[in-house]
Amino acid sequence: MPKQASSLSTWKDDYITGIKVMDEDHRQLFRLLDKSLVELENDRNWNVGAWQKEFNRYAAQHFLLEESLMEESLPDWPERAGHLREHRWYWEWVMGMHTRQDREEVASFLRSWWSRHVLVWDKRLGQALRALPPRIELR
Ligand SMILES: [Fe+2]
Ligand SMILES: [Fe+2]
Repeated sequence: MPKQASSLSTWKDDYITGIKVMDEDHRQLFRLLDKSLVELENDRNWNVGAWQKEFNRYAAQHFLLEESLMEESLPDWPERAGHLREHRWYWEWVMGMHTRQDREEVASFLRSWWSRHVLVWDKRLGQALRALPPRIELR
């Protein structure tokens, strides 16, 4: 019997940063994450490798977007180093994910990392970017 929506990591409006390109990426990331969590929890033959290929590609592009926004627009922002560290730490965990046997641990890490990262770090980044003089492509 498939798991209920409680196992999902569904998008909520609290995640909105106010920076269009970041918000579009986040919506897509949470959509992919929901799909993965359902597969991870229901499919005995869930293929970590295949999942990583799709999700990691998207996550990598997204981190690159945020990191270039910081580099171009907020080079001296005091939170930049911490934000980059968070992204690196995420990769370290994900790269070692195939060694973890406990699916619930994997699901719970993914769910809580993305939720916390967006709510804490990305929202603060959004705030800092919105405080800058307007740049058309970010609105
Ligand atoms: Fe981020
Ligand atoms: Fe983000």
